[in-house]
Amino acid sequence: MTIQWFPGHMTRARRQIEEKLKLIDVAIELLDARLPSSSRNPMIAEILGVKPRLVLLNKSDLADPAMTERWMERLAEEQVKVLPIDAAAGTNVRMILPRCKELMAPKFEAWRKKGMEPRAIRSLIVGIPNVGKSTLINRLAGRSVAATGDRPGVTKGQQWIRIGKELELLDTPGILWPKFEDPMVGYRLAATGAIRDEILNVEDVAFYLAKVLAARYPNVFSERYGIEKLPEDMENPHEVVELLEAIGRRRGAVMSGGKIDLKKASDVFLRDLRTGKLGRITLEAPE
Ligand code: G4P
Repeated sequence: MTIQWFPGHMTRARRQIEEKLKLIDVAIELLDARLPSSSRNPMIAEILGVKPRLVLLNKSDLADPAMTERWMERLAEEQVKVLPIDAAAGTNVRMILPRCKELMAPKFEAWRKKGMEPRAIRSLIVGIPNVGKSTLINRLAGRSVAATGDRPGVTKGQQWIRIGKELELLDTPGILWPKFEDPMVGYRLAATGAIRDEILNVEDVAFYLAKVLAARYPNVFSERYGIEKLPEDMENPHEVVELLEAIGRRRGAVMSGGKIDLKKASDVFLRDLRTGKLGRITLEAPE
């Protein structure tokens, strides 16, 4: 589902999360490991305030492991716990509870001093659409409780899902809007499929991706498409288009008369990225 985030939606989404925050001990912030900055809500620190926070780099199966390491170091500077996961396959999901317990240590200690027994940790998953919130909730619950597909401002009766004895999770995630100000952020989100293809022109997104990959992962062009020589000047739009055409030629995006169907070539190229066929790729580095 595509969300058009108007100011009213943002205000409502924020208010809904703030209501849920009153109920929980730990916020679980889900980011896309391929674009940890672009997939982060711009106001997240303000919205979550001092709530103990676990940051999960999801879809780490598709991200460059060396870059994920760098991002983990960077995010750890924020006094949060960080964990790379793959919610779809379940990788590292069992590490979520121990990390939450670490975050709760001071609170547990305070409870003990008052003679109270620690109860189950109450948590909430927050993140932008398509980052994998429902997949993670279902994975943690061990059954299908969260419907995939997000709509801001649509509430349903929320319930606690018990995950073992020590963790409870709200079954509806907190849905936040992505960053919009920087057009490059829009292209990155679109390249990974976080924004529907109809919103941005698919050729423009492929054009952007070709430039990023030529700079960061130049080998993908020879490995996936047999293109041995990259354009000399990737700042020259004609040369970038020629590269996309070469991909189209390799992948059967040829129209009658031999002309390349650039839209089809772009679709193929983006699909290859999203399905991991280009290898494990991260589109942005920590600054
Ligand atoms: P949301 O609730 O945050 O909106 O996200 P959701 O769980 O619906 O997940 C969005 C898509 O991302 C789903 O693909 C899901 O399978 C995929 N996904 C979630 N976590 C991971 C992960 O760790 N690794 C990989 N590779 N994929 C993950 P989908 O149902 O096929 O939707 P779509 O591809 O049609 O968008």
